[in-house]
Amino acid sequence: MAPPEDDGWSPIATEWATRWGGFADPARRALLDAAAVGTGVRLLDAGCGSGELLRLAADRGAAVAGCDPSPAMLAVAGRSAPEADLRTGGLEALPWPDGAFDVVTAVNALHLADQGPALAEVRRVLAPGGLLALAGWAERSRNELGVLEAAVAAADGEPPAEDPEDRLPGGLEAVLAAGGFALVAADLVEATWTAVDDEALVAGVLLGEDVGTKGELGPAVVAAAAPFRSSDGVVRLRNHLRWAVGRR
Ligand SMILES: C[S@@+](CC[C@H](N)C(=O)[O-])C[C@H]1O[C@@H](n2cnc3c(N)ncnc32)[C@H](O)[C@@H]1O
Repeated sequence: MAPPEDDGWSPIATEWATRWGGFADPARRALLDAAAVGTGVRLLDAGCGSGELLRLAADRGAAVAGCDPSPAMLAVAGRSAPEADLRTGGLEALPWPDGAFDVVTAVNALHLADQGPALAEVRRVLAPGGLLALAGWAERSRNELGVLEAAVAAADGEPPAEDPEDRLPGGLEAVLAAGGFALVAADLVEATWTAVDDEALVAGVLLGEDVGTKGELGPAVVAAAAPFRSSDGVVRLRNHLRWAVGRR
């Protein structure tokens, strides 16, 4: 199957890395701990984005590889983790041979792929007994960002977004089971996103929107962020990510 078309991540790659790149580090560290990633472990980060997990895994001594359909994301990843074997491609068509990895990670990426083919591809590139380690946003009610997203939807005349099943308790475990992976561990971690001023706040929450949309919806973002603003003007949003690890 052909990899998916670049779906719009390339135009925002550099800004995404600056504003959101480090956000998921608590989940990345939890995955690397649970999968015992250390010296010599062959790890593929599928949908590696700007390469933050690759950096953390390489610093633990893993032999790291990453893929992403977005060439611009891969270019940023190459600067974060120059030792990584980086290849263009999505989860549905991983450009490596059978059994090439001990661990495959996917952080906030599997939901962007066609899940059935993606899980089959992960199984194919994992060695027997290898681990699939997934992480993604928890349900919106656990995320202060959800308050801002609801305000944006209301300002735009839209209903609040519904949570997809993989965000809910047991959702990632169900994904692993659907792919034939035996559950090893799963948990929830807190992750805080910080905006130092209103410009950073609006740019981060409305990342990828055009200037007109930011002008129209930005005031709703700033108003909704008031409860989360400190006296120094910094907005800190407490959020949660779920993670789960399964064995092939
Ligand atoms: C929210 S970013 C997450 C990046 C990174 N995994 C992380 O730790 O934060 C989503 C990434 O998934 C990539 N992506 C989009 N469709 C994909 C697919 N079908 N397979 C794998 N990655 C995909 C995007 O290009 C983007 O780099």
